This record gives sequence, C-alpha cells and structure tokens, in this order.
Amino acid sequence: PASTQPLRTGDLAVGGVSLAELADRFGTPSYVIDEGEVRERARAWRTALPDADIAYAGKAFLSRAMIRWVEEEGLSLDVCSAGELELAALSGFPAERIVLHGNAKSPADLRDALRLGVGRIVIDSTGEIASLAAQMPPGARQRVLLRVVPGIAAGAHSAVRTGVEGQKFGLPIAGGEAEDAVARILGQPRLELVGLHCHLGSQIAGLGPYVTAVRKLVALLAELRDRHGVTFPELDLGGGFAIAYREGDPVLDPALYATRVTGELALQCARFGLPVPRLTVEPGRWIAGPAGVALYRVLAVKSTGGRTFVAVDGGMSDNPRPALYGVRYTVRLVGRASTAPARSATVVGRHCEAGDVLAEDVPLPGDIRPGDVLAVPAAGAYQVSMASAYNLVGRPPVVAVSEGRARLLVRRETLEDLRSRDVGE
Ligand code: LLP
Repeated sequence: PASTQPLRTGDLAVGGVSLAELADRFGTPSYVIDEGEVRERARAWRTALPDADIAYAGKAFLSRAMIRWVEEEGLSLDVCSAGELELAALSGFPAERIVLHGNAKSPADLRDALRLGVGRIVIDSTGEIASLAAQMPPGARQRVLLRVVPGIAAGAHSAVRTGVEGQKFGLPIAGGEAEDAVARILGQPRLELVGLHCHLGSQIAGLGPYVTAVRKLVALLAELRDRHGVTFPELDLGGGFAIAYREGDPVLDPALYATRVTGELALQCARFGLPVPRLTVEPGRWIAGPAGVALYRVLAVKSTGGRTFVAVDGGMSDNPRPALYGVRYTVRLVGRASTAPARSATVVGRHCEAGDVLAEDVPLPGDIRPGDVLAVPAAGAYQVSMASAYNLVGRPPVVAVSEGRARLLVRRETLEDLRSRDVGE
C-alpha cells in the first residue's frame, strides 16, 4: 500500500534560507539542495534497514558535497560511469563501498573500477563475464553481482521499467539465461560471485513488485543451490522508490518497505532452507529528489488561444523530465505575496520547441509578471544530473543550504565554458 505525505519543499524558505534571496544572490535558473534534508532522508533508510547496505544511486544527483554527506551518513554509493567513479574517488569515498553498474561499461569504466578497487561490479551481460576476468590484474579477485530480470512490470513510465524482459538491462530468469550466466561466472576463478541484483524500475510507490521480486529471486537462489551447490551472502534489490512531485502523490515509505521486504525474504529463505542474504537497496530519487528546489525567473507571460503561458529562464535543458516522461510538477510563486485569484497557467521554458514545458496547467496567481521568481519543488533528482546545454544555455548552478546559510556547490556553466569547448574552425 502506498502512503502519501505533503510536499516539504517549495516553502518560501528551505534550510532556513529564503528562496527569493537565493534567486537574487545566485541568479536564475538555479538549483537549491537542502543538506539537512538529504541527511535525514539517508538516515531514514539506515534506520529502516539497520542491517542492510544502503547504496545511494549517484545518477540521481552527484557532487562532491553530496558524496561526502552520504558517506558521513554511512551509505554506500552506486555509480555507473568512470565520471561518477572519479568524482567519488576525488572526494575520498571508500572504494570498498562503491558498486559499479552499467549495461555497457566502457574499458575506461572497468579500468578505473579495478584500479580503485571498487567493492562490487554488477555484471549485466554474458559477454561481460570473460572480458572482465581478462582485465583482472594477475592474482586479483573481484567481487561481482549478477543483474537478473525477474519479469516484473513496475515503474512510472516505460522508459524506466527495467524489471521486464525485452529491455537492455540484465539477464532474464525466465528461459534460464540468468542461471547460465551464474554457471559461467562460477567458472571464472578471478570473479567471486557474491549475489544477485535486480532493479525493477523507478518511481514505484507500491510494495507488491518488491515482494514479488524477493519471491522470484529466492526461488532462483534455491535452484542455483540445488543445481550448482552454491549459496550467496548478498542480495541487491536496487532502488526505484517513489516520491511526491505534487501534493497527494503516493510515496514509498522505507519503514513499510523494510517490514514487508525483510519479512518476505526471511519467509522465502526459510521455505527453501537457504541462509538469509544481506540486503542491499539503492535509493536515488528518494534521497535527493525532495531535498531539491529549482528556481526560475519569469521572462514573459503570454495569453493566447485561450491559454496562459508563463515562460521562465530555464526549461527542458535543466529539466527534461516532463518532456521525457510526462511528469507533472507543482510550481509556486516566491518572493512576493499575491492576492490575485489563481488561474491555470502552463509554465514553459525558453528553448526553441513547443514540447519545452515544465508544468502543464498549474494554478498560479493571476498577476504573475516578468521578474517574478517561481520555485519548483521535488527538483533534487534527475534534473541537474540530466541537464544539457541545449541552445547553448549554460547549465544552472547548485547551491547548498544548511542551518540558515547558503553556499555554492557547483557554479553556473558560462558562455565562456561553452565556447571554450569549440576548438575547431
Ligand atoms: N539502481 C539502479 C541499478 C538504477 O538503474 C537506478 C536508476 C537506481 C538504482 C535508482 O533508482 P531511483 O531510486 O532513483 O528510482 N531519469 C529517470 C530515472 C532513471 C532511473 C535510472 N536508474 C527519471 O528522471 O525519472
């Protein structure tokens, strides 16, 4: 069952700092991240699952500060590129607590992972088994997990449903592909298979899919024990935990997840007489998303064809999620009080396509005008990390707020940054 909770962010102040002041000081568009909120959300998972490994999925949002916060909160880190790995290493994150993912790991990804000594590499395909073993330095052994596909459809959009067959990640349990890969890994003395991994999808509010995944994965573990005489100490169930983008959206509760999932795991393991593996979960969005707020300034207001368009100074370059997945956001006016009656407006960006919409038909005060500051809550995940420089609009800065103070974490990408990459004639 999914529970609901009110949106915490989007208030006029975040982390004790006024959003309007932040817009003035750091300019717009900009992203604000509340350090206290990130830490609290990390702790919520540690408290819910004290015996599990909680690996923050860095793809949601990564910066050196973020890496330090999750490290200090005792979390591990899920990375999926040499870039994310290098940033973690630069920040002194313990390599042992890093897990490397990827359906197409580049030679650089693997070289870096082996050089830095990451704790786990998640094998995603049969071809990767021999190629990873071949790259291992003499005498070395790498702990690996195998990503399997349990055949479970869950997730907010087809683009983020990875638990079903017929998409690029992992090896299906059905048809024996996963079992075949396990046998191959067991045949590689340089690889130590420590367990199975699956990631069902993203923005999942219900617990049903996770419970089903436990059943399917434990059934596979029993089969592997019976046919190959092996048991594994770990089980990684991935992430995908839903947050609220709008008031009333169903969210996943870590405490409920913990009860249902660990309960089912114990039950299924007992049923097959298997040792209970240590659980790993990989929350990304759940930790970073609600801690972030995007700030924009209104550039133009236009009423046309019976609709009101409020155009802001960002758009699909800093938040492609409405265009990619049809996500609906909330938008709030900050920095001034308005008594004007609310009317429905569509908040659009400044990019040169009609699909550059940030929020379709949201209630906003009727007197919105150029210069106003708008805040979009729940902006901490998959926005900064997915930002592009489309139309040569530089990527926005990231500002951390904590205990009434603000500091710049990532500076704005300038036109000079963009120009300097263009080295041809
Ligand atoms: N583990 C693995 C192996 C993953 O691939 C992902 C996300 C996660 C964990 C974390 O999932 P989360 O807890 O954040 O849902 N760009 C999309 C989301 C893509 C998620 C990709 N993988 C979006 O903006 O909704």
